[in-house]
Amino acid sequence: LVASFGDGALRGLKMVVSAGPTYEDIDPVRFIGNRSSGRMGFAVAGAAADAGAQVTLVAGPVHLDTPRGVARRVDVRSAAEMHAAVLAATAAADIYVGAAAVGDYRPASPAAQKIKKQAGAGLTLALAENPDILASLAAQTVHPFLVGFAAETHDVADYAQDKLRRKGLDMIAANLVGNGLGFEAADNALNLYWPGGSLELARADKETLARQLVASIAQRYRAARS
Ligand code: CTP
Ligand code: CA
Repeated sequence: LVASFGDGALRGLKMVVSAGPTYEDIDPVRFIGNRSSGRMGFAVAGAAADAGAQVTLVAGPVHLDTPRGVARRVDVRSAAEMHAAVLAATAAADIYVGAAAVGDYRPASPAAQKIKKQAGAGLTLALAENPDILASLAAQTVHPFLVGFAAETHDVADYAQDKLRRKGLDMIAANLVGNGLGFEAADNALNLYWPGGSLELARADKETLARQLVASIAQRYRAARS
């Protein structure tokens, strides 16, 4: 029995989805990470596969099974590794969805050996800025349809619309984190923005939201390429 899911809105299209946090090593036993669980990005990858896309999922360190129908999964750890994997995978992609919570900074010089505690003294870590994956894709003359995420704790609409413009994106999905929503939570709520339009996706579980987001991406993609 061959089951068919979704409406085939992305049939024939290649999509790359990044998901999860990145870990930036301080030394062999410590890292700087963030609270992203990867669930929203994994749900988007699954929904896109259900909609007929050929999906490559670039996953940071998460504890999640690959959703049914996802063609390929590349596991990475740091922002630098994610950057390289996304650039390679998007070379032939139609759509990139940046759902990963990419670390903005990394320790400037990770220690080769475990850093020993100096009793009675604090420790200052020097950090270097990571490359912006979405912005580097947007800077390519030919690039896929670009969808970003913006997780904010305040002024969601303003920050999201600013990121849409500043990063040269085709769409951004904004969510308020905290209060049982967003990071580490089952539920989410998304506001979608694209140049000249917006759509509110009401609070729901991440799988439901992912299906709605994928439907909007398919619509905007067709509109932008027609
Ligand atoms: N992003 C990226 N590469 C980075 C940082 C972020 O591709 N080095 C992407 C994320 O995957 C997301 C979008 O940019 O799709 C927005 O991420 P966010 O952290 O909200 O934006 P920043 O520009 O890093 O701004 P800030 O953290 O200051 O809010
Ligand atoms: Ca950031």
